[in-house]
Parts: sequence; structure tokens; C-alpha cells
Amino acid sequence: MGIQSLNLIDLPENYNMKFYLYHFVRWPQLSFVAENNEGKLVGYVVGKMDDEEPSGHIVSLSVMRTYRRLGLAQIMMKQTTAQMKQVFGAEHVSLHVRKTNRAAYGLYKDSLKFKVDTIEKKYYADGEDAYVMKLLLD
Ligand code: ACO
Repeated sequence: MGIQSLNLIDLPENYNMKFYLYHFVRWPQLSFVAENNEGKLVGYVVGKMDDEEPSGHIVSLSVMRTYRRLGLAQIMMKQTTAQMKQVFGAEHVSLHVRKTNRAAYGLYKDSLKFKVDTIEKKYYADGEDAYVMKLLLD
């Protein structure tokens, strides 16, 4: 519930509970949350594996506004990508990010060393293009 409400506040791509439960049941090792001292959820990452190739994918990532720039997203991303490799033998991980999302693009490119693989035109429902970014897990 905490993940869903944070997602509704922070991102235009929203999912129903069935969608989240499917990911938690199928790839329980690939989702992480960050909590504050009172146990309130302040960030999450949801990951999954590709069905055909040894490739992980970041489904959604968000950190509550008042807890940003503390390194939480970077820590959660490192946790899920490490699990993708260790548990599922992932060779790389991919994600989609809006071209105008400077914070997320900065996180992926500068801190986590993802590279832009392709651009998917009009990937998002409102017509915005997505960068498809990839990281080799060597
Ligand atoms: N501007 C530029 N670079 C940034 C910014 C920003 N606003 N925020 C983070 N970064 C980069 C910096 O390089 C930063 O390192 P630094 O603080 O040492 O300079 C690095 O990312 C690490 O930042 P974190 O503190 O780990 O990131 P944070 O916990 O603040 O979370 C996030 C970043 C998840 C993008 C947050 O801003 C957020 O929740 N945004 C709204 C939701 C969103 O856009 N999610 C990603 C969508 S794409 C997807 O889900 C696959």
C-alpha cells in the first residue's frame, strides 16, 4: 500500500495492486523499500526479469520528496541490480526514463553508469519519448 501511494504521488505511470503483487510473488528478491525511523515507507524500487533473456528491468523507482538527495535511490538500485545478477544470473539491466526527467536521468547516467541504448518515440501515454538505458552487470 505504501509503494502504491508513493507511486501515485510521484509518477504518472500508476499500477493496480494486482500488478505489484505479481512482481512481488514472481521476483521477491528484486523489490526493496526505504523506511524512516518511524517505519514509514519513504522510497521503493520494483524490479523484474525478462522472460526470454538473462536481463533485469527496473519497473519503477521513487523516493519521497523530503528524503531525496540522501543516496536512497542509489542504494536501492544497487541492491536490486546485485540481486538480479546473483539470484537470476542477469547479464545486464535496462529501464525506461522520460527524456525530461533530469533527476532520474542524472542518477542512472552519472551515479550508476547506465548508458542510453535507444530512444523509444512516444513511449509514454502522454506522448513523451523514453530513453532506454542499459547497464552491463559484469
Ligand atoms: N538533479 C540532478 N541529478 C540528480 C537529482 C536531481 N534532482 N537527483 C538525483 N540526482 C543524481 C545525482 O547524481 C545524485 O548524486 P549526488 O546527490 O551525489 O549529486 C545521484 O543521482 C543519487 O541521488 P539519490 O540521492 O540516490 O537519488 P534520490 O534518492 O533523490 O532519488 C529519484 C532520485 C528516484 C529520481 C527521485 O528524484 C524521485 O523519486 N523522482 C520522482 C520519481 C521518478 O522520477 N522516478 C524514476 C522514474 S524512471 C523509472 O522508474 C525506471
